[in-house]
Amino acid sequence: MYTLALETSCDETSAAVLRDGRTILSNIISTQVPIHRQFGGVVPEIASRQHIEYVMPIIKEALDTAGLTLADMDHIGVTYGPGLVGALLVGVAAAKALSFAADKPLVGVNHMEGHIFANFLSHPDLEPPFLALVVSGGHTQLVQIDGYNSFTLLGQTRDDAAGEAFDKIARVMGYPYPGGPQIDALAKKGNPDAIVFPKALHEKHNFEFSFSGLKSAVLNYLHTQEQRGEAYNAEDVAASFQKTVVDTLVEKTMDAAGYIGAQKIVVAGGVSANSGLAAAMAQACEKGGYAFYRPEPVLCTDNGAMIGCRAYYMALDGRFADLTLNAKPALAITSC
Ligand code: KG4
Ligand code: ZN
Repeated sequence: MYTLALETSCDETSAAVLRDGRTILSNIISTQVPIHRQFGGVVPEIASRQHIEYVMPIIKEALDTAGLTLADMDHIGVTYGPGLVGALLVGVAAAKALSFAADKPLVGVNHMEGHIFANFLSHPDLEPPFLALVVSGGHTQLVQIDGYNSFTLLGQTRDDAAGEAFDKIARVMGYPYPGGPQIDALAKKGNPDAIVFPKALHEKHNFEFSFSGLKSAVLNYLHTQEQRGEAYNAEDVAASFQKTVVDTLVEKTMDAAGYIGAQKIVVAGGVSANSGLAAAMAQACEKGGYAFYRPEPVLCTDNGAMIGCRAYYMALDGRFADLTLNAKPALAITSC
């Protein structure tokens, strides 16, 4: 079975072709990062226009690289939420047009579920059930995965996502967008215990997150140093901030794993590329006796292949969309 998948929810235009849901034949990613970098973050209107320009050439490249044609595809998967509405609409419109023209079934994919499914691509033997921590630029969620089409959201952030905090702090420190990889690199050279930042909601069995207080505390620290005319050590700030985020993510994930009786723990989303998170989670999993999985770096951030993997398992279950499929910017993961 062949899947063609499209991803245009934020600032990456991507198309992929998969065989039997778990073998990547092509995964073409055109990033808009250099364009948005000039503005310090993603400009939604510019993102939509870039997607319009790139979506068809990227689809062609994905099919050509796979050595297949649209006629060979069994279905077309596309991200329809969550994300930027204008950006999502481009992918959804392209997928609907191809689905109609080539008479191929359409599958509407939740972007966050796609992130989780990236792990099935990196780990051929991985199967549900497991606990997933999804940490991206827009979301922070703990999700119980009982089967390929059966999920329960255990908790999510009340305010900022983890990635959002990384990006904002890096920006104030003068580093270019996206800030996560910059903080990650700085943190490796800093002292994680140099500054104590606050942790929120860390009572037992509270699976919700809040990163806005931490973000404000770091920004306050930077401003205070500036007002005093005192230099701050960027490496120590990055290391101390990252440690606070990582400790919170690991602590809550371990708590949730014990609570639901999980045996496997999976991380996903852009922030799962963070080296501090990977190291701390691997260590905690070893101590707790859990098997630990995370996608290879290219599959951590937005890509079409992860959407294709999710689409494949939806198609196997007959979960197709019709041509009324629309972009849903605030689409949630729901128990199904
Ligand atoms: O999943 P993703 O590609 O897009 C969304 O769905 O949001 O995640 C992007 C986020 C950005 O906030 C970026 O700064 C963060 O992932 N990120 C990282 C790292 N690489 C990407 N954060 C921390 N450490 C990293 N190495
Ligand atoms: Zn994403």
